[in-house]
Amino acid sequence: ELGPYSHFMQKEIHEQPRALADTIEPVMIDGFSPALFGPDAAGLLADVRSVQILACGTSYYAGLTARYWVEAIAGLPCSVEIASEYRYRDAVADPKQLIVTISQSGETLDTMEALKYAKSLGQDKTLSICNVPESAIPRASRMVFYTRAGAEIGVASTKAFTTQLIALFALTGTLAKLNGRLDTEKEAAMLQDLRLLPGSVQAALNLEPQVTAWANLFAPKQHALFLGRGLHYPIALEGALKLKEISYIHAEAYPAGELKHGPLALVDEAMPVVVIAPNDALLEKVKSNIQEVRARGGEMFVFADADSHFSESEGVHVIRTPRHVGLLSPVVHAIPVQILAYHAALAKGTDVDKPRNLAKSVTVE
Ligand code: M6R
Repeated sequence: ELGPYSHFMQKEIHEQPRALADTIEPVMIDGFSPALFGPDAAGLLADVRSVQILACGTSYYAGLTARYWVEAIAGLPCSVEIASEYRYRDAVADPKQLIVTISQSGETLDTMEALKYAKSLGQDKTLSICNVPESAIPRASRMVFYTRAGAEIGVASTKAFTTQLIALFALTGTLAKLNGRLDTEKEAAMLQDLRLLPGSVQAALNLEPQVTAWANLFAPKQHALFLGRGLHYPIALEGALKLKEISYIHAEAYPAGELKHGPLALVDEAMPVVVIAPNDALLEKVKSNIQEVRARGGEMFVFADADSHFSESEGVHVIRTPRHVGLLSPVVHAIPVQILAYHAALAKGTDVDKPRNLAKSVTVE
């Protein structure tokens, strides 16, 4: 079943070009259309005025990424909340708010309970993004988008995450269109970006030897810091979660602009700092943020595309990621942080597919 791979996680990382292409396929056929979300979606999505995303763990980070898209492209306010928090607070109901739950398994208890709570408040526009057909959460939702990642066995979520991002991008395009914010030209450009994505992800996978060399430097470390900004901040969060989950190295992620508000105090020669820094609107800000890290002796590991113009120097390692792929860049940059965590865990000899204390699907509170 594993084929040439040593672990399910490694296999699942490498399956991503295929998983993404399969998930993109219906979008290529229908374009951005409510039909992607089931028969009731045309009516339910027509008058959406805001979006509330609910999820846990990696699925929550997919939601955090989507917030940038929904607000920038569809022009709708979007909040993202950890399901186990939402379910216990007094949320203000809004019948024109779209509730989006994201869950690979479709069985996560906290996400299910958050959905039930939203419904009890009278929220009727419920959409599930899920990888397991007929699981509990999509069954309890009025609309559904099934990601086509295929069974994910490794406890650490990889291909589920990147395919969730496709679902959320398709949702963004659909809401933008319904909201009168997407002309034919813009839609065609977004669809073209999607079409090219599996190729860029394959190019990112080809970086495995270089990323492995970095991972071997991480294995003896106790702590690591991940930095990103804007669209790439959730990827920093995801990188930190992957690393701690399977290698047990303590990792934290911060938006780079937050450094001097506290975490900079942690930085010294013993603290490796991973930076997700492709060429985007905030690149110059990231560059000045990381000078602060370098000045404190922190060793930097920078993922940057050719347009970022980063060069290696004393204490600054750079891996060139595939050229900037616009708004879908977080999908491409998720790949190297997955590989980094996988190889750091391998070097440490931990149980990659079944990390201690964790279950694949969390069906208890
Ligand atoms: O099945 P779900 O997407 O609802 O699971 C949510 C989290 O438990 C899950 O993403 C978890 O954080 C992963 N182990 C992360 O790799």
